[in-house]
Amino acid sequence: MSEKVAVFDTTLRDGEQAAGTRLGSREKLMIARQLARLNVDVIEAGYPASSPQDFEAVELVSREIEGPAICALSRAVPADIESCGQALAKAHRPRIHTGIGASDIHISGKFQDERYGKTLADKKIRILQMAVDAVKLARQFADDVEFYAEDAGRAEPAYLFEMIAAAIDAGATVVNIPDTTGYTVPEQYGALIRSLREKVANIARATISVHCHDDLGLAVANSLYGVLSGARQVEGTINGVGERAGNAALEEVVMALRTRGDYFGVHTSVDARELFRTSRLVSDLLGIKVPPNKAVVGGNAFSHSSGIHVDGFLKQRETYEIMRPEDVGIVESRVVLTARTGRHGLRDRLQKLGYKLSQAELNQAYQRFLAIADKKQEVFDEDLIAILHDEIHPLPEIYRLEYLHIYSGTSAIPTATVRLRVRDGVLSGAAIGDGPVDAACKAISQVTGTAARLERYEIRAVTSGTEAMGEVTVLLEEQGRKVVGRAASTDVIEASARAFLDGLNKLANLLTAPVLKG
Ligand code: KIV
Ligand code: ZN
Repeated sequence: MSEKVAVFDTTLRDGEQAAGTRLGSREKLMIARQLARLNVDVIEAGYPASSPQDFEAVELVSREIEGPAICALSRAVPADIESCGQALAKAHRPRIHTGIGASDIHISGKFQDERYGKTLADKKIRILQMAVDAVKLARQFADDVEFYAEDAGRAEPAYLFEMIAAAIDAGATVVNIPDTTGYTVPEQYGALIRSLREKVANIARATISVHCHDDLGLAVANSLYGVLSGARQVEGTINGVGERAGNAALEEVVMALRTRGDYFGVHTSVDARELFRTSRLVSDLLGIKVPPNKAVVGGNAFSHSSGIHVDGFLKQRETYEIMRPEDVGIVESRVVLTARTGRHGLRDRLQKLGYKLSQAELNQAYQRFLAIADKKQEVFDEDLIAILHDEIHPLPEIYRLEYLHIYSGTSAIPTATVRLRVRDGVLSGAAIGDGPVDAACKAISQVTGTAARLERYEIRAVTSGTEAMGEVTVLLEEQGRKVVGRAASTDVIEASARAFLDGLNKLANLLTAPVLKG
């Protein structure tokens, strides 16, 4: 039997740090449930000390998810570690992930204050001690403690080895060697992991973890080299989302290890048939599209179009396919729902798509489904998913769209009239704009009096055809807080207005909560 490589998913922590994305607790829980179905070994649910929202999300995921270990991130700071301990209190298998900068660049750049030492050499002694203290403190809250040596990819090897050895002696069960800036190349990163195994005397007492960023497009290659060199945990995110160019895409790592098991000689416990569904859920909730040519989960990953390829593929599939679409959960679904499909049929289809709804959520989704089915001849799986993400609101709705009227045309000034239901009554008003969408958003801004700024607006057709549903994603910013608003409708102007309101509702909920200083 080949050795197992544990899969550590950090979509909810490192992935959520992707520019312009924010997930609420409820959205994090939806993703965590799907990650549990995917059967990853560890879910890093957040960084509890960063904000009350993140604390609450880690707490919720810890309470609700069984199976994978639930992990929370901290700096090597007592308050952070205590916050992790509290947020993870209900987790079945808690893990605290703590650590500190290991490269000279990080140490001299981030710890400039003289209380960390006057010279770089002094600072390095102090940082080492902080690493040890952090692991010891974390062990008081959890038996499973992962230590990260930030920017290990650019660290001085001897110092890195000393730090890792000290962290293991202090009680770290897993040691993470992050290539934080995506600087290394595969041979070099692999050699780093190998020398760690050779030079750190107590390394056998911990699992080596690889955590690679994609600044040079090498995150997956570096991770795989790390595994070849002896790492037995791989960290990454679904669709490779994350800071800057992102993290190693877990679906790619998993499928490389599986498809080329003959070469790597290891296996993971991931249920690959859940990969596609997980990818779409993460894409929808983060509002980050999956490029069509993306490996493993892109829309074209299994399409063949050139004559020679199609001919070969039809004669024998293996000529041009090294994985089968069904291996990653892409199923040709021609089950078409219509207005005559009852609640039961809808629930059944949603369950096959991996969504379990409460009765109240199902009723809500059903009403919306009927409205769409009335307008469209066929309702596809993608339509259902869009309805679901649109209709199931994680937070109390402060504003609800009651009425939208648009006046527009080639020789008319686009004008929108809106009426919103609020707790104590209605708000209504009208505005003109540069186009119907602009007019609708301006009318909503005017009646709500919001100061939110629209930073990004995206629209995509959920399915093909002129009757297709349009899904709108907006990124709103107010007082430094950013939220993603989302909505779908066969009427793209209505979808835009609803997405804008969804964002305003999220902001209104967020701005009533205080922020903890990191
Ligand atoms: O990239 C990195 O160094 C990290 C650590 C916090 C683990 O994400
Ligand atoms: Zn990272």
